[in-house]
Amino acid sequence: MNVPINYELVKRLSAANGKPISGQQLADDLNISRTAIWKHMKQLEDEGYKFESIRKKGYIMISTPDTLDPAKITAALETEEFGKKIIYEKTLTSTQTIAHQQAQEGAPNGTVVICEEQTEGRGRLMRPWKSQTGKGISMSIILRPDVPPYQAPQFTLVGAVAVTCAIRDVTGVRPDIKWPNDLLIKGLKCTGILTEMQADPDRVNAIIMGIGINVNHEYEDFDDEIANLATSLKMTTGKQIDRAELVAKILYYLEKLSNQYIEEGFENIKGLWEEYSCTIGSRIKATTIRNVFVGKAIGITNDGILQLQLDDGSIENIYSADIELQK
Ligand code: BTN
Repeated sequence: MNVPINYELVKRLSAANGKPISGQQLADDLNISRTAIWKHMKQLEDEGYKFESIRKKGYIMISTPDTLDPAKITAALETEEFGKKIIYEKTLTSTQTIAHQQAQEGAPNGTVVICEEQTEGRGRLMRPWKSQTGKGISMSIILRPDVPPYQAPQFTLVGAVAVTCAIRDVTGVRPDIKWPNDLLIKGLKCTGILTEMQADPDRVNAIIMGIGINVNHEYEDFDDEIANLATSLKMTTGKQIDRAELVAKILYYLEKLSNQYIEEGFENIKGLWEEYSCTIGSRIKATTIRNVFVGKAIGITNDGILQLQLDDGSIENIYSADIELQK
């Protein structure tokens, strides 16, 4: 896949860390004319990048825009495969819907669909998922593991562990995982993950992993009905978070853990999920479509099913439910 010139420019100028790179050097490295370099720099300036041009020395990158521009994500990528194809638009209906279409058209493993704002974002159980312009991360990743459909739910747990590790690395705060795959900080939701799949009876064609993160939201950005249940990474740390850096880190962990899963199996990832979980060991109320169960969450099965020990000692398998942690 040919990497666009703009991606290469952003990558080289950010890696230079404030040292100038001459136009001639960039032109030689990228095998294009100095005039072409100048035109690409102008284009990047129009997108919000700021450069200083020092006579006889070259260009320095002063600042980057607060966007999820693929050039910015690519400059921070540390992966072999994930994020090499990024489909980015300012506004999309739902990255999940577009990623399903892309998967059907043959998009490769690790393809990312990402946007600043969704008009029809959706969460688990077909609930709406709201995402305002420029504050959060709304993305869907196409994974193509060669596994039978019954193993697909395990990738939900791979996703939750990957995002947890990425948030911990970028912010210094490690969220807790609430079954099945919400991430909480101090009991408030900062991330939701929606995993869907396309499959034949005996083989997964694609897993579409949708990730929604509240990153730079303020309290007043949340609708009244969720304001006291939600938080953002900025509200937690008091700092503006670079969303592109966080996306690159998520892709790093997702690739690493998916490869680990393929090579070593599910056991270690399940162990990490349980270590980061605030559900396991807690007394919870699980509201399913038909019943309400209260008991102690004692573990998850290899299929990601939650096991609840009820007060009479019996074990109830919970496949899909809303969970409340009890005091
Ligand atoms: C949940 O908590 O119910 C899951 C929320 C998943 C939201 C993400 S945002 C990116 C992707 N596109 C969607 O329409 N939904 C997922």
